[in-house]
Amino acid sequence: MDSYRDANVLVTGGLGFIGSNLAIRLVEQGARVTVVDSSISGCGANPYNVASVRDRLRVVPLDLSEAPQFRSEIAAADLVFNLAGEISHIQSMKFPERDLQINALAQLRFLLECASAKRGMRIVYASTRQLYGAPDYLPVDEGHPIRPIDFNGVHKAAACMYHLMLSRSGELDAIVLRLTNVYGPRMALNIPTQGFLGTFLRRALTGDPIEVFGDGLQTRDPVYVDDAVDAFLLVGFGIPPSRTYNVGGVEGLSLSEIAGVISREGGGMQVTQRAFPDDIKPIDIGSYATDCTRIERELGWRPRVRFDEGIRRTLDFFRQHLEHYLPPA
Ligand SMILES: NC(=O)c1ccc[n+]([C@@H]2O[C@H](COP(=O)([O-])OP(=O)(O)OC[C@H]3O[C@@H](n4cnc5c(N)ncnc54)[C@H](O)[C@@H]3O)[C@@H](O)[C@H]2O)c1
Repeated sequence: MDSYRDANVLVTGGLGFIGSNLAIRLVEQGARVTVVDSSISGCGANPYNVASVRDRLRVVPLDLSEAPQFRSEIAAADLVFNLAGEISHIQSMKFPERDLQINALAQLRFLLECASAKRGMRIVYASTRQLYGAPDYLPVDEGHPIRPIDFNGVHKAAACMYHLMLSRSGELDAIVLRLTNVYGPRMALNIPTQGFLGTFLRRALTGDPIEVFGDGLQTRDPVYVDDAVDAFLLVGFGIPPSRTYNVGGVEGLSLSEIAGVISREGGGMQVTQRAFPDDIKPIDIGSYATDCTRIERELGWRPRVRFDEGIRRTLDFFRQHLEHYLPPA
């Protein structure tokens, strides 16, 4: 990790949840960090996310589609961590062209500018398990068919292909991480469409009942954000043997178990069940579990933070900084 001392690093989406955790770690390791983030309404940008290091990083408040305007920052970067994106599957079904613009078109413009400003540069892209769609088998490895079931998955798949295609031709040197559900400090708790973990955590902090959709038996393997950040840092430099790696959590848990842990750590609010809402059922993928064998075998990464410990750390963070994430009405 010493590679990051004095490195010039560009972090797109660095005001959002994962990007800000990554930017903070990079600053702590002595990197010169520039964040590019246009604070898109409905995404997780929050200036408070980087408040602790604000005097030690630069923020360029531009959109990736405006990349020619920050070409000099691209040219000066030793590497790019590309985390800008919209994560909401529900929003992508309501506003598919908005999702296309954010997750595919803006990415294409940015990548072409990177290739022209600094041919062959290293870019690490935050991809998603959603590319795989409803799994044919569990756990899901990198060879699983790419068969997304919502617009977000299709557009993220396109952006993933742009990275890989431009790398095959030598224009870029991209590494793609396909992340499972990520949780931890600096999540956007106030955006209900950003996934069930943020919603469960918000309810734990407000003391409201936690609602589980369906029978609660579906499984997920949430990964704590510090573990995800470790994976990004690991593939940033050097020559990883592969271009794509799955990144998952320590353990597979049912949604009822996840709700139970969050309720227990949150003080014991009620957990209830209800049928899937009509707008979520068609884009539900069923159970998911990540096969992380490749990244463990090739690079020695594995998730370390167990879910109950990660939830304790997450709730501790939000209790200390609540007014910046759940402002009083
Ligand atoms: N959070 C998860 O569970 C998860 C899981 C799989 C993959 N991912 C991927 O990781 C990345 C980061 O996710 P997150 O949870 O931190 O999301 P987030 O919404 O918290 O942060 C994304 C940030 O990107 C910025 N942004 C979006 N499009 C932009 C653009 N075109 N130009 C400039 N800035 C832009 C937003 O303003 C926001 O600050 C996303 O690409 C997402 O698809 C996240």
